[in-house]
Amino acid sequence: MKVRDIIEKACHENILTKDEIKLLLMAEGEDKNLLFKTADMVRKEHVGDEVFLRGLIEFSSYCKNDCFYCGLRKSNSQAQRYRMQEDEIVEVAKRAYQMGYRTVVLQSGEDMFYTKDRMCSIIKKIKQNVDVAITLSIGERSYDEYKAFKDAGADRFLMRFETSNEKLYRQYHPGMSFEKRIECLKWLKSLGYELGTGFLIGLPGQTIDDLAQDILLVKELDADMIGIGPFIPHPQTPLKDAKEGSVDLTLKSIAILRLLIPDANIPATTALGTLDPLGRQKGLMCGANIVMPNVNHLKYKLKYELYPGKICINEDATKCRGCIESIIVSLGRKVGQGKGQSRHYKRAA
Ligand code: 5AD
Ligand code: FES
Repeated sequence: MKVRDIIEKACHENILTKDEIKLLLMAEGEDKNLLFKTADMVRKEHVGDEVFLRGLIEFSSYCKNDCFYCGLRKSNSQAQRYRMQEDEIVEVAKRAYQMGYRTVVLQSGEDMFYTKDRMCSIIKKIKQNVDVAITLSIGERSYDEYKAFKDAGADRFLMRFETSNEKLYRQYHPGMSFEKRIECLKWLKSLGYELGTGFLIGLPGQTIDDLAQDILLVKELDADMIGIGPFIPHPQTPLKDAKEGSVDLTLKSIAILRLLIPDANIPATTALGTLDPLGRQKGLMCGANIVMPNVNHLKYKLKYELYPGKICINEDATKCRGCIESIIVSLGRKVGQGKGQSRHYKRAA
């Protein structure tokens, strides 16, 4: 099958075989341009020209896990650790609201200091103070905790499965299991969260076959939001000497998923902008419709180092917002108004 025919099939049927996806991932030249152009058209048709901004609050850099790629891994004794107090988190959420954000993303390492009760209290306080959607990105918890967070007012949850290759998953996530990860994602979906998931591009040992499988798994989990980013080696991790992930494959994966889940929310990730100065712009031009600027204080931003070289790390949150807004306008797009719930979620509901 020709790439042109595969793209057409994706548009009409919203499903592809693994081999077809692999051909798209390997597309070059005119074929690649067509993939990006089509994804951009599908994005425009299904989610419009609005780009929604999410205010990211990284509230704790402690993590009990030891993922091989991540700078927050517990074995990284050089990592700078901090925990924000409840009131401080609520203050930052209020500041984000004043800057115009209508979604805040509460992200942290897997830090059990934030017990069920503490998390619920933070969620409730934010909801009492400002009218924002709350997205959690805090990793694996029990069904009971996920339910309590939802009942307290959390709207959405982000958790990448990172890789669908179970052997690689085991290798890079000591003490964790792929099965458990998927179970958590299914719980979240069943609890009515708007569900975000996705994967890393370019983990050492990962093949094109694996990436095609990753794309199919996002489709199978029926994600409302899709986070895909290139792996960036962190000097204080076991993968420090590995090669970084490919920007090109990241863009192609975004484009393919836009065709397969046309009404999902897809961010142009910070990691993409870190590896390529125009990465976020490129992402927005081949299917993405979301950007997630950090709204935290500078003193914390510097300490939340998943990977090195993160963009905007020295920028004040107000400046970042202005910068992103001008990027959006320069692409002929608009800054989204309102909470920007995933249209995929609305349709399913
Ligand atoms: N490079 C790129 N992305 C990373 N993440 C963690 N470490 C790295 C890294 N070294 C991503 C993971 C996680 C998200 C919050 O950050 O995919 O899900
Ligand atoms: Fe942060 Fe540009 S988005 S400075």
